[in-house]
Amino acid sequence: MVGGLFPLGGPVEAEDLVGREAFITSLVSRLSEGQSVMLAGPRRIGKTSLAHEVLRRTKERGAYTAAVDLFRFSGKRDFATNFIDACLENRTGIRKTLSVLGDRTKALTGGVQFAIKLHDLEISLGFPERKSDDELLDYALRLPGILTERDDKSMVIMFDEFQDASRVMDREIFKRMRAHFQTQKRVAYLFLGSKEGMMRVLFSGKEEAFYRFAIMLPIPRIDEEEWVPYIAKKFASRGVAASDSAVREIVRLSGGHPQDTMFICSEVYYTLLETGAAALTHDYVLLGYQRALLALAPVFDEILDDLSNRPQARIVLDHLAAGENVYEEGVHPNKIKRAIDYLITKAVIERTARGSYVFVEPMFQQYILKELQ
Ligand SMILES: Nc1ncnc2c1ncn2[C@@H]1O[C@H](COP(=O)(O)OP(=O)(O)O)[C@@H](O)[C@H]1O
Ligand SMILES: [Mg+2]
Repeated sequence: MVGGLFPLGGPVEAEDLVGREAFITSLVSRLSEGQSVMLAGPRRIGKTSLAHEVLRRTKERGAYTAAVDLFRFSGKRDFATNFIDACLENRTGIRKTLSVLGDRTKALTGGVQFAIKLHDLEISLGFPERKSDDELLDYALRLPGILTERDDKSMVIMFDEFQDASRVMDREIFKRMRAHFQTQKRVAYLFLGSKEGMMRVLFSGKEEAFYRFAIMLPIPRIDEEEWVPYIAKKFASRGVAASDSAVREIVRLSGGHPQDTMFICSEVYYTLLETGAAALTHDYVLLGYQRALLALAPVFDEILDDLSNRPQARIVLDHLAAGENVYEEGVHPNKIKRAIDYLITKAVIERTARGSYVFVEPMFQQYILKELQ
């Protein structure tokens, strides 16, 4: 659900995209130069939001764009059709070009014109039905190359939840994609994925289809100094005076995690609405925070349940939450290392540049600490 004063749960619009300016600028220029990029990071840290903005700006510069979310498709045909539609929309301005072409009534009114518009792309009425799934897929993967050559355009294509391509289709799909993509001189790809481990293997494993195809960039944290003016402005837009220190307290409690910060803000806001208060004080921040933590409890409990058959991972997690050394006397370091790796794979913790480990969601850390008390 996106909406409300502080949007939550899906990609946000440009005006709610906090602290991504420098990163977006860098992505836009890399992609415009033809460099493909891979971004891997846990769910709910804002990958899709920033990618949409990157595409919007690339389009503004005159390039073609297309975005598909691999999480959504049921198979080759479904993917191929949607991918072709996303590419053709650049020419026709119509989201579902293929279904317009296939629909007889629409074909009589407007479809023929599309057929003409698309004539040079070997697309005619009823085209998709006549092809086998594999033929359609190959056509789809070839299309960006053909389209950009014919129209003398450059193009940026975004694949969201890219690792899911092998679930939707099969592992062969990566080889097939690469075979086509590497011949496309004017197309740059932006790959997003929330399964970091899988993404990393796919793009850095020597035997993998996408080995060195894209540069892997870390997704920067959103700085407190970026959050503070945004949050203050949002509250002010509803007539709520928010003190600088109360706003900072929100960011401190969320650790700056994108969705959790928005979530606390949102809960604080609804608490204010309920009581009719017009000023944001520390008490309200704490109330909103507690509500947010309560609402997140089922999510956190599920992660902890998953760890019930991984006792060592749970022990390590508790130590990390308490800020203690994870290595213990009497436990082999390898065993602890494996537990840490497992927690990283599950996107519960991440390794910092300095080699220490931190919680992806600082609120989860708080949750565990409360449980330990
Ligand atoms: N840059 C940002 N500024 C503000 N909120 C953000 C930002 N990025 C993400 N969010 C919050 O996180 C939620 C999920 O964002 P989304 O882009 O769908 O993440 P992902 O694709 O990584 O799962 C959004 O609905 C919003 O509440
Ligand atoms: Mg996403």
